[in-house]
Amino acid sequence: SQYQKGVKHLYEIGIRRVPLKYILPVSERPNQTHWKTHTTDGSLQLPVIDLSGLHGPRRSQVVRSLASACENYGFFQVVNHGIPNEVISNMMDVTKRFFELPSAEREKYMSADMSKPVRYGTSFNQLKDSVFCWRDFLKLVCNPLEDVLSHWPSSPMDLRGLAVTYAKETKFLYLMILEAILESLGLTTTKNTTADTDDQILSELKDGSQQMFLNFYPPCPEPDLTFGLRSHSDFGILTLLLQDEVAGLQIKHQGRWLAVEPIPGSFVVNVGDQLEIFSNGRYKSVLHRVVVNSSMSRISVASLHSLPSQSAVRPAEKLINQTNPRRYRDTDIAAFLHHIKSCDYQEKGVLESRK
Ligand code: SIN
Ligand code: FE2
Repeated sequence: SQYQKGVKHLYEIGIRRVPLKYILPVSERPNQTHWKTHTTDGSLQLPVIDLSGLHGPRRSQVVRSLASACENYGFFQVVNHGIPNEVISNMMDVTKRFFELPSAEREKYMSADMSKPVRYGTSFNQLKDSVFCWRDFLKLVCNPLEDVLSHWPSSPMDLRGLAVTYAKETKFLYLMILEAILESLGLTTTKNTTADTDDQILSELKDGSQQMFLNFYPPCPEPDLTFGLRSHSDFGILTLLLQDEVAGLQIKHQGRWLAVEPIPGSFVVNVGDQLEIFSNGRYKSVLHRVVVNSSMSRISVASLHSLPSQSAVRPAEKLINQTNPRRYRDTDIAAFLHHIKSCDYQEKGVLESRK
């Protein structure tokens, strides 16, 4: 059907109304859920963490603020993260240019096969979603880079080069943040400090898989009827999100929806389901969603970091004791992914089934 071609296509042919396929039941629409905000301009100040402090005498202070952000928000923004501005602006720019390509060029990468190293698509999961979301995306699997690279789009010409640089930089940043988060949980990768099973998970955390989602949300003629992305949690360990200056992301905080104010040059980082399980529930994988608007398109690039595909998913032994009993059953990535693929839209389907 024409909806499989994505929302950029609908925007380009000039539709004035949102097609039925995208219209949510009244109770689930953006204007029906009272989303509130903290500040006068309607935006939430997520904790902003200056990562330059990780390299000096202030490290333990920074580690504590990461712990507090992961416990209380499940989300935070990072500045002075070490990724050069140029790498960031190049990635945003090439993402924009990819979505400006003729639709025939983008559609070459459409596929129903979720395991493909490159996949162009629309909505959240266009094979399953009963109601579609107002988002088109290009998914790039990033590991092993040597194997996947030749499958990535060859147009725009500089996409591969810029996206590889960006993937490597975000992986490095992920590892830096992960290291600090493990420290905040009292876990380190040094031998003899953790149980054997933990050691294995710790090394798996580092060799985990990485996927990037280049997201495009075109203007939507009736933004009160649909979402750019419906409420969901991310399945992995951590997601590093780069967004342009157009707001749209909202997170659930203390029962209310709060808009995240974009800070140029920063990353929004959030805890995923696998880290919630690994931390035995201490760190929270928080629901988030994207609202669209009628005048501006929005671009974001999400870098998802998760356990490798053969891995077990379970709470760290060291975090289970008499005062903190185990809160999640063991599972593995295969069961995890199977669950995601086999279900219709669910907010936190995977986590609920593992409790
Ligand atoms: C996502 O939730 O994966 C994307 C969020 C965004 O576009 O801001
Ligand atoms: Fe997400």
